[in-house]
Amino acid sequence: MDNPPKEEAALLGFGSACVHAGHIPDPLYAHLTPIYASSTFVFDTTEQGMNRFSGKEEGYIYSRWGNPSFREAENRIAALETFGLKDENGKPLKARAILHASGMAALTTLFMSHLRSGDKVLTHPSLYGGTDELLQKIFPALGVEATFTDMHDLSGVEALLRQDASFRMMYLETPANPTLRCVDLEGCLSLAKKYHLVSAVDNTFASPCLQQPFRYGADYVFHSTTKFLNGHGTAIGGVLIGLDEPLMKDKIAKVHNILGGNSNPFDAYLLTQGLKTLELRMARHCDNAMRVARFLESHPSIARVNYPGLESHPDHAIALKQMSHPGAMMSFELKEGMEAGKRFIDALKMCARAVSLGTCDTLVSHPASMTHYGVPKAQRGKSGITDGLIRMSVGIENAEDILEDLGQALNA
Ligand SMILES: Cc1ncc(COP(=O)(O)O)c(C=O)c1O
Repeated sequence: MDNPPKEEAALLGFGSACVHAGHIPDPLYAHLTPIYASSTFVFDTTEQGMNRFSGKEEGYIYSRWGNPSFREAENRIAALETFGLKDENGKPLKARAILHASGMAALTTLFMSHLRSGDKVLTHPSLYGGTDELLQKIFPALGVEATFTDMHDLSGVEALLRQDASFRMMYLETPANPTLRCVDLEGCLSLAKKYHLVSAVDNTFASPCLQQPFRYGADYVFHSTTKFLNGHGTAIGGVLIGLDEPLMKDKIAKVHNILGGNSNPFDAYLLTQGLKTLELRMARHCDNAMRVARFLESHPSIARVNYPGLESHPDHAIALKQMSHPGAMMSFELKEGMEAGKRFIDALKMCARAVSLGTCDTLVSHPASMTHYGVPKAQRGKSGITDGLIRMSVGIENAEDILEDLGQALNA
């Protein structure tokens, strides 16, 4: 359902787009798009109902298929992921987004829309645990296999693509969970184009504020909106954003509607409000993260810090190339291993012991026993997810308080 009745102001800054882009003026003049808590929408006549079903007339029908509260968040996110980008004719790049109940629901829509038995997905190790399980445990039963390869070796990637015509999709996550390894979007996505693969990038860790995969030719960008986009940890959600608007509107929306992983109006409303402060929040998250990473790196109890903003990170150069800032996520390992890690986490006073990320609050978790519990130990080890690894999502508190809490917990 398209609802862009008013001509939008051309916004110069990303922060303004976070507040205003894609806004649909409310017919009753509410300032904020209300929570349209309605499962269904009425037709004036039978003919109007028929026209809406056949697509002759734009309009809402049933909330599994779309709702004004979803549309507001979808328009805003599509505008942010394409902000400042141009198409091959020099016109502003346009995308369409579909909001989902969770990141995993959005990913399921993406995979079910494009993959058939016999197809292969080319991806890399160190994906989010749920994505890894979807590719390793659910899709093989449908005849879809995933190949996990080191995407830093572009000639190796090209050799794989040259040898095997069944690769249908390239799936990237950068920075990736929880080692913060980054892949070169430009290099990988140009190979996806060359070998006619559908490409998708999980941009959850960066947010469009720090990285826009469409700039490098991705077909789809995907987010767990649960994280930085919502920003306050108030709702689970996911979004799939695609550049091919007719395909998104017809085929992808249809798959989404049938699978039924729709969002709900209240969560969409929370997401829309969260998006307004994305730029402001990211600035603070990022400043704090840089200070925390330097503090951890110089601490005698710490063996290793994985943060792409540090010169010691293997993908520092890639992060600098494609991100405006290396972000607010990091992981680290204590010299004394797992036991010291547990002692540290248990001694935290302000930072929360919790999975998830991208909230205002600093969150600390233990991937081996939490987010990556379902990934076999040998595979985890290969991806650098050791038993002693601690992951941190640096929040927007004052840096002094975060450093104080980490310092006292490290000495506990
Ligand atoms: C990078 C990344 N992608 C995808 C997901 C899945 O999203 P959701 O939990 O919203 O389904 C997560 C969740 O933690 C994630 O961190």
